[in-house]
Amino acid sequence: MANDKILDGKEVARSVTERLKHQVQFLKNHRINSKLVVILVGNDPASRIYVRRKGKACEQLSISSETIFLPENIKEKELISKIEELNHDPATNGILVQLPLPPQIDEKKIIELIDPTKDVDCFHPVNIGRLVSGHPYVLPCTPAGILEILKYYRIDTEGKHAVVLGRSNIVGKPMANMLLQKNPSANATVTVVHSRSKHIASLTSDADILIAAIGKAHFVNSEMVKEGSVVIDVGINRVEADTEKGYRLVGDVDFESVLPKVSKITPVPGGVGPMTIAMLMQNTLTAVATQNGILLPQ
Ligand SMILES: NC(=O)c1ccc[n+]([C@@H]2O[C@H](COP(=O)([O-])OP(=O)(O)OC[C@H]3O[C@@H](n4cnc5c(N)ncnc54)[C@H](OP(=O)(O)O)[C@@H]3O)[C@@H](O)[C@H]2O)c1
Repeated sequence: MANDKILDGKEVARSVTERLKHQVQFLKNHRINSKLVVILVGNDPASRIYVRRKGKACEQLSISSETIFLPENIKEKELISKIEELNHDPATNGILVQLPLPPQIDEKKIIELIDPTKDVDCFHPVNIGRLVSGHPYVLPCTPAGILEILKYYRIDTEGKHAVVLGRSNIVGKPMANMLLQKNPSANATVTVVHSRSKHIASLTSDADILIAAIGKAHFVNSEMVKEGSVVIDVGINRVEADTEKGYRLVGDVDFESVLPKVSKITPVPGGVGPMTIAMLMQNTLTAVATQNGILLPQ
């Protein structure tokens, strides 16, 4: 995209992928193979698309991958025994269980069962604890992708007021945590806003860096952002449109109205989205390297 305000996630993902290609080659030079196993339970169309994309990303990097398709009505104990089998399989470096899971399965129990050294999503409490304490093993994919975008475009976070809109375990909470860590690529002053927060617009309009992750189309308008701020739009929302599919994807930010006021902004699509899978690939290689007691070139 030509507009110099646009933070182009596709470009950053390409640059990360180049780094990952070197890491894959480095591991191959040490005769180390990498393998990611993805478990998909049921037939949710969106989950199928995500899983296919993950397999394709592995293929592009020559990382072995396998998708295990399990029926929607699978019993919890059957899924548990599959994960236990993968935990003990030395050829499996990363295990990812695609969420959401059907109601008969306790999601928390499944996440906690995955060997933390194979938890490439960074959902296991041990890995979240490591992250919070400032000694991460791997990083949660979407927030890590956002930090990569900021780093690539040399957007300094130190001392900035970062407002994170949303407090999910997948995006909002880890994002806030990563931004407040005591290191040069964080060191921000962080405010977290959620559905029970009061005076949301006055909080967001004080943000030097605003990260919107609430899943509400066009929620953030121009009155909610500060002049010259950086806006990161994580949202992916379907809105009805006169297209072949009958819809188009939009973010949580009203892009057209916000664009003139901000200094930088991620588009949807083409902003944060492409980064999430790139960071999953990074986590897979980090897991491989750690399991083999070797340090990856950066
Ligand atoms: N680009 C990517 O790769 C990627 C990855 C993950 C997610 N996403 C997208 O990012 C969005 C958020 O995902 P998520 O998984 O974090 O969603 P989520 O689990 O539904 O969490 C949404 C968060 O937003 C808060 N919220 C909802 N309505 C609000 C309002 N009106 N005012 C203030 N806060 C509000 C909720 O507050 P409460 O906690 O109080 O309920 C919650 O903390 C979705 O559109 C999702 O599709 C994109």
